[in-house]
Amino acid sequence: MTIGPPLWLLAELTYRCPLHCVFCYNPVDYATQPEELSTDDWLRVLREGREMGAVQLGLSGGEPLLRDDLEVIVAEAHRLGYYSNLLTSGVGLTAERAAALKAAGLDHVQLSFQDSTREMNDFLSHTRTFELKNRVAQIIKDQGWPMVMNVVLHRLNIDHIGRIIEMAAELGAEYIELANTQYYSWAFVNRAQLLPTQEQLKRAEAVTDEWRDKLEGRMRIFFVAPDYHEGKAKKCVNGWGSMFLTVAPDGTALPCHTAKMLPGLSFPNVRETSLRTAWFDSEGFNRFRGTGWMKEPCSSCEHKEEDLGGCRCQAYLIAQDAQAADPVCRKSPHHDKVLAVVAQAEADARTRITEHPLVFRDPKASRRLAGA
Ligand code: FES
Repeated sequence: MTIGPPLWLLAELTYRCPLHCVFCYNPVDYATQPEELSTDDWLRVLREGREMGAVQLGLSGGEPLLRDDLEVIVAEAHRLGYYSNLLTSGVGLTAERAAALKAAGLDHVQLSFQDSTREMNDFLSHTRTFELKNRVAQIIKDQGWPMVMNVVLHRLNIDHIGRIIEMAAELGAEYIELANTQYYSWAFVNRAQLLPTQEQLKRAEAVTDEWRDKLEGRMRIFFVAPDYHEGKAKKCVNGWGSMFLTVAPDGTALPCHTAKMLPGLSFPNVRETSLRTAWFDSEGFNRFRGTGWMKEPCSSCEHKEEDLGGCRCQAYLIAQDAQAADPVCRKSPHHDKVLAVVAQAEADARTRITEHPLVFRDPKASRRLAGA
């Protein structure tokens, strides 16, 4: 197969974060990860990515504003011709810092909220950040940036979806991404508490459609459907090693931000390997490219080119086999495990009791989960 260049470079600048979100997609063992790349390393990564043809740059974390060289990184991205997008919780985005980032050439900001209510926003992130996020939304608008608001949806906030959309419109977002939780990393740990019911999802989609009509031409609404309830796998990261290249804070080059947990796979580090070699030649990137790696039921499935077998991380987490069909697919021999979790979520939502307490992301929990 022909391997094209990575079009999206996601620079996960740091795993450090002032928030403690229960659905965080950073690895659960983030607190045991080695040192972050230096400024010079990041600048080299940007140059190498651009030489390969990457055009979109995501600057994420953790909280990328905790890096005090963010302005330097943005300036280099601008000089190289990237379209740069800052993915932030808003913590640390003062008016001064926003002005400096604008001057450095930052193109776009994605601001996350946990909910439309102060209580739930602050509860889910274990911080008092709701008011701050509202102020930051205004700072983003003052700089003239297009603003995407991102809200991760789950059982605890999905019933507020109408108010969430309304709030995004009031704050002047151009676009809202309502992303149903993907259950890996911290969200997998908290899955029993976070998985919504079928009824909640149906209502949420209907409310979203009503708001789409109301806000037509003013704000775009993107609803990411949850795959546990659909019986269909999604083409994760648009296909392994086909478009997205993530560089983790310690320099590990990855096809998706959680792939490092997959056993028996090695991924190169940009401290020792060029981005080009990592992308084209490394075992990790080539392992699940295309369809050649598949086994049944994927290998003979008529949908294999559409979904590419689904998410490798999900296959590993649920079936303990990264080469298996994504268990959310109804053809997977492990699909019963997904159905059981969904049924349990329905029962728990009815009784409002789950056996699993929420685990907030923090270094202590991370070390415990990593067994360190
Ligand atoms: Fe890793 Fe889907 S999140 S392949």
